[in-house]
Amino acid sequence: MSTSYPKTSALMARGAEFLGSDYAILCGAMSWVSERNLVAAISNGGGFGVIACGAMTPELLDAEITGTKALTDKPFGVNLITMHPQLFDLIGVCEKHGVGHVVLAGGIPPKGSVEAIKAFGAKVIVFAPTLALAKKLLRSGADALVIEGNEAGGHIGPVATSVLAQEFLPELATEYLVFVAGGIGRGDMIASYLEMGAVGVQLGTRFACATESIAHPDFKKAFFRANARDAVASVQLDARLPVIPVRALKNKGTEEFTAKQREVANLLDAGTVDMGEAQLQIEHYWAGALRRAVIDGDVENGSLMAGQSVGMVKQEEPVASIIAQLMEQSEAALNRH
Ligand SMILES: Cc1cc2nc3c(=O)[nH]c(=O)nc-3n(C[C@H](O)[C@H](O)[C@H](O)COP(=O)(O)O)c2cc1C
Repeated sequence: MSTSYPKTSALMARGAEFLGSDYAILCGAMSWVSERNLVAAISNGGGFGVIACGAMTPELLDAEITGTKALTDKPFGVNLITMHPQLFDLIGVCEKHGVGHVVLAGGIPPKGSVEAIKAFGAKVIVFAPTLALAKKLLRSGADALVIEGNEAGGHIGPVATSVLAQEFLPELATEYLVFVAGGIGRGDMIASYLEMGAVGVQLGTRFACATESIAHPDFKKAFFRANARDAVASVQLDARLPVIPVRALKNKGTEEFTAKQREVANLLDAGTVDMGEAQLQIEHYWAGALRRAVIDGDVENGSLMAGQSVGMVKQEEPVASIIAQLMEQSEAALNRH
C-alpha cells in the first residue's frame, strides 16, 4: 500500500485490498470510453479500471480482455449489463480469462448470475437503488456495493449521492464494502465519503477525457467547455414507457431522444412491440448515440453522457496525474479535518 497518502490509504485499506489496487478508486465503466487503453491506464496508475462490456458480443469482450491484459498486469474488472441477452455467455468469457471482479449493472442481477460469477472465484460488485435491495443482494452473495447518486453521468437514479450516502453508509459500512459514486470531482469529496464509512469511490466523468481515453477530441472539448448545469437528465415523455433517465450534456441529440421516445411509444400503442422490446430499443438508441459522440466525434447529434462534475474537467490530463490530484486533495482534507 502507498505511504504517500497515509490517512486516505488507511481509510481505503479495505477497499484497496478487495480490489487488489493501490487506491480504492474505481473508474466506473463507460460504454465506448472504458476500453483497453483507459482501463489499463487506470489500473497501471494505481486505481481500478473496469471494461464496459455494454452491448458487446462475447467475442468482442474476449478480445477486449485479451487486449487489456496485454497493456497491464494489474487487476481490472468487467462491467456487464444485466439485461444483455447473452449475459451468461459473457460471464463465461470472464471465467475463461480469470477476471477477478465482475460488476453487474443496469438492473437487478438475474437468477443464477451472482452464483455463476462466484463459482469461478471472482468477486461480484452490484448496484442497488434502495437500502432494502442492497441488503438483500449483499446477504445473498454480492461482495461489494456501489451506491450511485443522481449527479452521475449516464443512466441515473432519482436520489442525490449525498442523501444515498447518509442512508446507506451508517447501515452497511461496518459489515459490508460500499463504494460511493456520482458527482465526485475532487479528493475533498472522497475524504468525506471515506470518513462516513465508504471503503472507496467510483468516478466516471473525471476520467472520461484523460489523455489515455480514446474519446474523440471533439467529445473531450465539449467536456472542457461544459459547466455543471449543462449536464442535464433526460425527460420521460410518456408515463407508460418507463425509460431510465440519462444525464448528458444538452445538445440536439437530447431533443432527438424525445422524438425517439415518441416513436417507441407509438410502436407500443400499435402493439408492434412489447414493453421489454420497447425498453431494449431505447437502450440500443443510447448505445448508438454515445458511440456517435465518443468515437465519431458527432457532438451535435450524439450523446455526450456526463455527470455534474463535468465543470471540474478542464483539460486533458494523464490518468496518473488525475489520481495523484484526487489522493492529494483527499489527504489535505483529512489533515484539515
Ligand atoms: C460517458 C459515460 C458512459 C457511461 N456508461 C456506463 C456503462 O456503460 N455502464 C455503467 O454501469 N455505467 C456507465 N456510466 C456510469 C459510470 O460508470 C460511473 O458510475 C459514473 O460516471 C460515476 O459518476 P460521475 O460521472 O459523476 O463520476 C457511464 C458514465 C459516463 C460519463
